[in-house]
Amino acid sequence: MSVPRPDREAMPTIETIVTRRIPPIPWVEGDNIPWDDPAFSQRMLDEHLSQDNDLASRRVALIDEQVDWIHEALLGRTPSRILDLACGPGLYLQRLAPLGHAGVGLDFSPAAISYAKARAGELPLVYGCTDLRTADFGAGFDLALLLYGQLNVFRRTEAASILQKARAALNPEGLILIEPQRFDAVRSQALNPPTWSALPSGLFSDRPHLLLTETYWNEETRTGIERFFVVDAGSGVVSAYSMSTEAYQDEELADLLADAGFACSEIADGFVPAGQTKDLVALVGRG
Ligand SMILES: C[S@@+](CC[C@H](N)C(=O)[O-])C[C@H]1O[C@@H](n2cnc3c(N)ncnc32)[C@H](O)[C@@H]1O
Repeated sequence: MSVPRPDREAMPTIETIVTRRIPPIPWVEGDNIPWDDPAFSQRMLDEHLSQDNDLASRRVALIDEQVDWIHEALLGRTPSRILDLACGPGLYLQRLAPLGHAGVGLDFSPAAISYAKARAGELPLVYGCTDLRTADFGAGFDLALLLYGQLNVFRRTEAASILQKARAALNPEGLILIEPQRFDAVRSQALNPPTWSALPSGLFSDRPHLLLTETYWNEETRTGIERFFVVDAGSGVVSAYSMSTEAYQDEELADLLADAGFACSEIADGFVPAGQTKDLVALVGRG
């Protein structure tokens, strides 16, 4: 294994950590972990597919329950065209298609989209590797999905724009199912104490490293900020990542959907699995 030889003048070092700004300003140091980096996305794909945790995607038993809910309770078994925004490896569309639905899945993780494409086979599914903030969503859909807390990790203006683009991509009577993180869950996660771990390899690096994380809550903007510092054990080089998470009260979520052009919305009881209702809430917006 070759150890990188950093140019110490140019590379971030531990000083980056020692001199970090406290508290951080939401969104200034970065907007998310590097889902779209090819190597990171390959490592993240293992987390999506892992049946040991519900970290990046849920375990399949829970996804199966949610797919049943979409097919039966939301769509009344009517064959539909479904747009899955931030679809990851396509675990929902892959199960919805054999029930009679067609779909388009968009995500900017190259490894997740390659996996989804490889699994689609003859099913009427199309996947695109693209950033939702700039992507064209197409048109003619009956249902749009934005699941597993993803709405909160966009800036408020970006979340509003994504919902507007989703509305425009739907048929007049179209539905959207969003599953944001709950306000209190974002806040309490942001108040967690710092952690560190020494890892032989992990999500952020396939080499031995130290991973340091810390979180902050910005009460004024109602934003959680999470920092990750990855210190390479061989070179001492530090990689820094930061993600911000916006916290919304349920009424604000209803307003977001109304502002995007949805005529009405309601809380979708029954979509979020029983063990996860403390963290996530689901809403359906109707065209
Ligand atoms: C928590 S995972 C959920 C994946 C999928 N919805 C599921 O539940 O299995 C979040 C996904 O959002 C994607 N994502 C994050 N920011 C994105 C962006 N700006 N454009 C497209 N995809 C994005 C990531 O690549 C990742 O696949």
